[in-house]
Amino acid sequence: MSLTYLLPALLSVHLIALILMAGTTLVDFITLRSFWRLFEKQKEKGSGLLEATASYARMIGIGAALLIFTGIGMMFITHGVFGEQLWFRIKFAFVLLLVANGIFVGRRLGLRLRKTVAETDLTNPNRISQLRKNLYRFHISQLLIFTIIIFLSIFKFN
Ligand code: HEM
Repeated sequence: MSLTYLLPALLSVHLIALILMAGTTLVDFITLRSFWRLFEKQKEKGSGLLEATASYARMIGIGAALLIFTGIGMMFITHGVFGEQLWFRIKFAFVLLLVANGIFVGRRLGLRLRKTVAETDLTNPNRISQLRKNLYRFHISQLLIFTIIIFLSIFKFN
């Protein structure tokens, strides 16, 4: 493939990966809201819904890996020209924040949620409501970071 087509090809995969990662994050957020509603009434049905979200983490991981690889690919074929621009530096800081938030906060909260649901009935509402709040904050922060990154990448201000 000639260089003329390589950049748009990488950008296309970059954007598909963005849809995969951000889309799955949004679906995870929406599913979790339904889960909490069900969990309050029928724990078993709620747990079933939670199982359905087990594959989401893999989808988000695949999206993140593709975004990073295609991003690095575009940097490589443009000889790092974007790296000198302010929008890209700020974007990169947000990408790191997104990944760190996902690994250190999201993954930990997800594991804690599954553990809590497996061992708790509705007798410990404080613990559950704190977890619910933290997961809500996590999803909102991830979606906000995605929005900022998309905004920066499209406007490319300097
Ligand atoms: C969550 C992570 C990311 C998101 C949401 C994201 C989003 C986007 C979007 C929406 C564009 C399209 C801009 C346009 O229409 O021209 C873009 C372009 C670009 N991205 Fe990313 N990106 C991410 C990660 C990365 C990473 C990790 C790198 C580099 C290591 C990177 C490098 C680039 C470059 C160089 C372009 C410009 C391509 C061009 O306009 O020719 N991105 N990104």
